[in-house]
Amino acid sequence: MEPLRFSAFWCGAVLCVSLGLLSHASEASLGMLKQRMLCKFCDMRPTNCTSVGSCNTGCEKTAICPHVDDVCISIWRKKDDNVTMDTICHNPVDKLHGLVLDDYNNTKCEMKERKGMGYKFFICSCSTDECNEDLFFTPYWLDQVVSVIVVSLVPLLVLAVLVVTFFYIYRVCRQRHGRPRKKGQPLHYNDDHAIMMDEEGSDSSSTHANNLNHNTELLPIELDAQVGKGRFAEVYRAKLKQGSTVGGGGGVGGTGAEQAFETVAVKIFPDEEYASWKNEKDIFSDADLRHENVLHFLTAEERKVHKQYWLITAFHPRGSLQEHLTRHVISWQDLWVLGGSLARGVAHLHSDRTPCGRYKVPIVHRDIKSSNILVKGDLTCCLCDFGLGLRLDNSLSVDELANSGQVGTARYMAPEVLESRINLENIESFKQTDVYSMALVLWEITSRCSAIGEVKEYEPPFGKVREHPCVESMKDSVLRDRGRPEIPNTWINHPGIQTVCATIDECWDHDPEARLTAHCVAERFNEMEHLDKLSNHSDEIQYNDP
Ligand code: ADE
Repeated sequence: MEPLRFSAFWCGAVLCVSLGLLSHASEASLGMLKQRMLCKFCDMRPTNCTSVGSCNTGCEKTAICPHVDDVCISIWRKKDDNVTMDTICHNPVDKLHGLVLDDYNNTKCEMKERKGMGYKFFICSCSTDECNEDLFFTPYWLDQVVSVIVVSLVPLLVLAVLVVTFFYIYRVCRQRHGRPRKKGQPLHYNDDHAIMMDEEGSDSSSTHANNLNHNTELLPIELDAQVGKGRFAEVYRAKLKQGSTVGGGGGVGGTGAEQAFETVAVKIFPDEEYASWKNEKDIFSDADLRHENVLHFLTAEERKVHKQYWLITAFHPRGSLQEHLTRHVISWQDLWVLGGSLARGVAHLHSDRTPCGRYKVPIVHRDIKSSNILVKGDLTCCLCDFGLGLRLDNSLSVDELANSGQVGTARYMAPEVLESRINLENIESFKQTDVYSMALVLWEITSRCSAIGEVKEYEPPFGKVREHPCVESMKDSVLRDRGRPEIPNTWINHPGIQTVCATIDECWDHDPEARLTAHCVAERFNEMEHLDKLSNHSDEIQYNDP
């Protein structure tokens, strides 16, 4: 991706230099063109103006002011019964009758009363040609009322800004240094299998396994076939007998010959993986996590008889994104739908707002990869496997974050995770590691899209390294060689693919701070909808999924 970045840099530089020259040139010419003002210019003379409303000075003489900095002035006086007016040019830098002129940038002459002269005195200044001919009088009391309002509102406004700033700083500090948690400590990483351990292993044996479903009876579920196996658990397709639906929205509904059922997925954790089950259950139990691009959670159960812990979720027959990409070449339209929905899922996870704008705890996944993403019936993605997820709530201390250490899958680990150099002071750092992993998944999706030209067999990112590369070999590729999966020049003939590749490049930047946010990636995808030069490919693809 270096050529892309290089050309973007030069375009930016040339643009900046040109704009700089242009603005300099226009300033110079403006300076040269500055002209002296035309003002009404009559010595003091009697006037019919009454200092109420508006009036015309009646001065017939227009003069070119002697200096370029001069502005037009009108003065109205009433001494005894003697009412006079004079119109002049004057440089506002200098005081006039001991008064500072503060309204000389006005385009109209707004006469304001000034006290302390020993007689009634109005003055105005303005700086458009002959602007001191028509005069607009403001009564003294109105002027005073406006000043009183301004004077009393400003401190209130300042106070409000201070309170808001203080509250904001307080919240940021709490997020960074929150109070230490009492229990719980995710521990160590082991080659390509991250292990989470939890001292809370002795948690109650109650069947109130989750915060959503407090039924004491286990659900009538019949396991069908195993559909997946992760590092902590096995996943089964299963039948949830009708009449016992939880939370709605299971997988594919169905009606058996004997009894109606709903198809669900059951993730079964053995006894020793209790910590992982609990972590995932706790993350899923946050109702604010619900999103169309996050796997729909139904309930959690402790199956004590078999010493098992279950998570019951929606079932998606298309399986994981990795399986889908292995089996199918996809169209540009599919890429756009898969990539956009993935980014929206991650953005929702990371967000501290629900779609309605309420506060929500941001969550990081920490193990984003194509096998932890499911493909739904409408070809959108949903994130699953939150066994390593982390809630970035106020109660997390820096020590606790530090202890959470190097977790994830080596192949998808960001450079700063590989070197164990995450900036623990800033919760954004964790989100940035997810964005790096998401970039690799976006690359996988793109590598199987017909719009890139010749499409090869599916290969994971850094596919050439051995099947489960260890941290050390990933360090060699990602840190020492600064390697990233290849984006051949032939891919970027398609304008949509070109934008996707530029986005991927910004997401796997070595510098975590330079990466895009998931929210930004989602927005980029929204904007890409019509970059579909080769849309005819969409029609060629056939799906033979279950
Ligand atoms: N593999 C893992 N989780 C799954 C689910 N919920 N549906 C289908 N396949 C899966």
